[in-house]
Amino acid sequence: MSAPNIETIVSLAKRRGFVYPSSEIYGGLGSAWDYGPMGIELYNNVKQAWWRWMVYERDDIEGLDSSIILNRKVWKYSGHEDTFSDPLVDCRECKSRWRADKLEDGKCGNCGSKNLTEPKPFNLMFRTHVGATAEDDPDSLVYLRPETAQGIFINFLNVLNTSRRKLPFGVAQIGKSFRNEVTPGNFIFRTREFEQMEMEYFVKPGEDETAHQEWIEACHQWFQSIGVSSANRRLYEQPKEELAHYAKRTVDIQYRFFPEREEEERQWDELMGIANRTDFDLKTHSKKPEDAEGKRINPDSTEDLSYFDEATKQRFYPYVIEPAAGVNRTVLALLMDAYTEKTNDKGETRVILKLHHSMAPIKVAVLPLAKNKPEIVGMAKAIKRSLQPVLRAVYNDTGGIGKLYARQDEIGTPFCVTVDHQSLEDEAVTVRDRDTWEQERVKVADLSTHLLTKFAPEPAS
Ligand code: GAP
Repeated sequence: MSAPNIETIVSLAKRRGFVYPSSEIYGGLGSAWDYGPMGIELYNNVKQAWWRWMVYERDDIEGLDSSIILNRKVWKYSGHEDTFSDPLVDCRECKSRWRADKLEDGKCGNCGSKNLTEPKPFNLMFRTHVGATAEDDPDSLVYLRPETAQGIFINFLNVLNTSRRKLPFGVAQIGKSFRNEVTPGNFIFRTREFEQMEMEYFVKPGEDETAHQEWIEACHQWFQSIGVSSANRRLYEQPKEELAHYAKRTVDIQYRFFPEREEEERQWDELMGIANRTDFDLKTHSKKPEDAEGKRINPDSTEDLSYFDEATKQRFYPYVIEPAAGVNRTVLALLMDAYTEKTNDKGETRVILKLHHSMAPIKVAVLPLAKNKPEIVGMAKAIKRSLQPVLRAVYNDTGGIGKLYARQDEIGTPFCVTVDHQSLEDEAVTVRDRDTWEQERVKVADLSTHLLTKFAPEPAS
C-alpha cells in the first residue's frame, strides 16, 4: 500500500477522536487543533516515552519545567528579538502574505503572480502584556516563549547548584512553545501553538563534537524504538546558510511527511533538530562575560553562567548539544507510519493503525459477545477492571463483534479480549491480535501475565 497523505490522516483523526479542528463551531481558527480522547493518549505516550528514555533511563539528565512567559531580556540576549524572524512578502495582486523562502519559483501561492513586495523580516514571537497596564506600555511587553530551551539556560546555575552535577550533564524539558508562523498548515505539522521536547546537554568545549554525534545517533534510534520506521526517516545535515545564529552544526531528523509530492526531495521535512549551540547561550546570558571581541557584553544579567572545573581548576562556559523534537510532529509521523489498510474475506477494506504497542492509546479492549447476557457482561467488566491497574483497558459493547474489532483496529488497539458463552464454563477468553487477526484461547487467570509479556519492551539491539 502506498503511504497515506496527510488528508487521509486528517480524516481518520477526526473520525476516531484523535485530532479535531479547534474552535470548529465558530468556524475554526487557522492552524489550531484539539486532541480528542484517543489523541491525548497517543500524545501523552510520546511525552512519557521521551521523558523515560531521556531522564529516567540515563544517569546524567535532570528535569525542569520553566515558565512560558519570561523576562523580556531573556529574548533580547538570546537573539530572538533581533533575529527570530521569517522573510515576509505581500502579493500586490491578491494582497495575500507569504514566507519568501517557501514560495516555489518566487510566485504568489494563491494567484501565481510574481508581483510581490521586497521581503521584510517578520518577528515570530507572540507579544502580550503583563499586569494592568496600558497595552502600548513598552515596559509591560512580554513574549510567549518560542522555544523551551531558554528556560533551561537561565536556570543553568540553579540546576547545577541544587543537583551538584559535574560536566557532562543535561537538563530536559517538555512544554508548549508559540510562534506566529506566517504560513502555518499541513494539519499538526506547523501550528502556532505546539509542544517541544528539548534537552540541553552541557559539555566541556572540545568534547562537543563527539557528544553531538552520539546524540544524533541516540535520537535516530529513539524514533525507531517508538515505531517511526527507518524507511521514512533520514538525517539531514543543515548547510551553513540554514544554521540558526547560535549553531555551529545542526543535523535534523527528517520524516517523509509529504509522500504525495512528486519531487523526492520535497517529501521530507523536519521532525527534530539536533544542534551544537556552542557556548553562545550561557555566555550571552552572563553578566559581562569575557569576550575577546568585546561582543555580547550583558549589563542586565546578575549572574555569570560559567562553570568551574575542580579537576583542572579552570573556569569556562560549557558547550551545549541540543536535541529538540516536536510532540505534534512526532504524533503525525506515528499516525502516518502506522496507517495501513487490509481487506477481509468479504472484500471489505479496513483501516488498521499498526502503532507500536507502547504508543497505542488503548492497549486492550474487553468485548462481550452478547451484551444482553448479564453473566457475560459482568465477566467482561470484571476482566477490564482487573487489567486496568497494569494496562490501559476499555470495556465496549456498543456493536456486534465484527464492528467492535474494526473500531479497535482503526484506533490501533493491539489486543481485543472477547468473553463468550463458553467463557462462563471454561474460565477462558479469546485474545485477538490486531496485526495478524489471529485468535488464541487464554485462561482468565493467566490473562494479565499473557498480555504483559506481549507488552514487554524489546531488548535493546
Ligand atoms: N530550541 C531549538 C528549536 O526550537 P526548532 O528546530 O525551531 O529548534 C524544534 O524546533 C522542533 O520543534 C522541530 O523539529 C519541530 O518538531 C517542532 N516545531 C517547531 N516549530 C513548529 C511549529 N510551528 N509547529 C509544530 N512543531 C514545530
